[in-house]
Amino acid sequence: LQHVEMIRNGHHTTGDAGGEVVWSEPGGSVRSPEKRKRVVRLWCDGCYDMVHYGHSNQLRQAKAMGDYLIVGVHTDAEISKHKGPPVFTQEERYKMVRAIKWVDEMVEGAPYVTTLETLDKYNCDFCVHGDDITLTVDGKDTYEEVKREGRYRECKRTQGVSTTDLVGRMLLMTKAHHSNMDNPDYQQHTDNFGKGPKGHSPWTGVSQFLQTSQKIIQFASGKEPQPGDTIIYVAGAFDLFHIGHVDFLEMVYKQAERPYVIVGLHFDQEVNRYKGKNYPIMNIHERTLSVLACRVSGGSVLPYAVGKDLLDHFNVDLVCHGKTEVIPDKDASDPYAEPKKRGIFRTIDSANNLTTDDIVKRIIENRLQFEARNQKKEAKEMAVIEAMKRREQQEQGDDAAQVAL
Ligand code: CTP
Ligand code: C5P
Repeated sequence: LQHVEMIRNGHHTTGDAGGEVVWSEPGGSVRSPEKRKRVVRLWCDGCYDMVHYGHSNQLRQAKAMGDYLIVGVHTDAEISKHKGPPVFTQEERYKMVRAIKWVDEMVEGAPYVTTLETLDKYNCDFCVHGDDITLTVDGKDTYEEVKREGRYRECKRTQGVSTTDLVGRMLLMTKAHHSNMDNPDYQQHTDNFGKGPKGHSPWTGVSQFLQTSQKIIQFASGKEPQPGDTIIYVAGAFDLFHIGHVDFLEMVYKQAERPYVIVGLHFDQEVNRYKGKNYPIMNIHERTLSVLACRVSGGSVLPYAVGKDLLDHFNVDLVCHGKTEVIPDKDASDPYAEPKKRGIFRTIDSANNLTTDDIVKRIIENRLQFEARNQKKEAKEMAVIEAMKRREQQEQGDDAAQVAL
């Protein structure tokens, strides 16, 4: 996987921002001035539980603030202590974060509270976090120290997606939620789930979000296949993009020396046809973002069929499918008939049998625990908001008293 990950351990030379010139040794502790290069090293940390495109978007924004991005992921024990048990194990969470294309390096078991010591240990200029607040078990801001020392930057939290929101969708037994997020069932459900617009924290609460083409452009690499590349095509739902998908795509990537992997996504109606119930959990735009954020995917397209036109249009050399069942097309035909006829079809063993259904089951089984965890999180956030308001009122009162004097 080494070359797949493209985790650059060498010296990164782009991004001359002027000002003080810093030469940075990845992982080293020495930082000494040098004339030519200015490498900005960034630190992000978090739980990254049930990694979604909100997390990827945070890492994308962080990477744009510098050159080399290191992401620290907390252990299960640390998360359990401060927030409540995570749904995914640390090994699973580490793998998901490693697979995100803006991550240059991943640190396992990063401390829950971000300190100057950690930033210095990894030789990072500053850390980047979304504009929500993260609190310890005692209600303290985990970024207090780095904020005080000016080693903290903020990026915009991605609206409309959070683990809470995804859990809400899983519990929502409607076929239409992916195409109509503002339907009454969804609203009612999210309110029942304790996330109405009134009296709730703006960070933990659910918000509605319409995907924009702008975000898709930001996520896409824009890289065209080069002459000599092996064009590999895969198709599927890729719903709730998970480690099974990552293992599969990484195996697909290993099928050629210079692979260019195109991921085809089934439309929402198509996924609903063969999966039923409330699938897909993520709509087509969200699934596109999840796939694009993965470092091994070259691009994603919406396939109508893996037929002659598509194979010729993209000059596809190889079509792969994992060991999961191949679902027949609407007319009961084999969707891979054409690549099989051309002798370019291959079954790939991802060595991972995790499915989207397993994830949904796991989350629903943990639902009560999850709700309790979130209520606790929101109560802590509300206490901080109240304290901020009180401080503001006090300051306004002091100002008014000054004027009166
Ligand atoms: N983040 C974001 N947008 C989201 C969700 C998370 O920008 N929709 C950011 C957070 O601000 C943080 C990073 O992703 O900088 C890691 O977040 P994490 O520690 O995993 O916790 P949560 O914010 O609790 O994520 P979630 O509510 O989805 O569990
Ligand atoms: O099920 P879905 O359509 O999302 O799967 C997309 C692709 O990933 C399929 O080729 C499937 O066989 C593969 N996959 C896999 N191992 C998993 C999950 C999916 O090889 N654990």
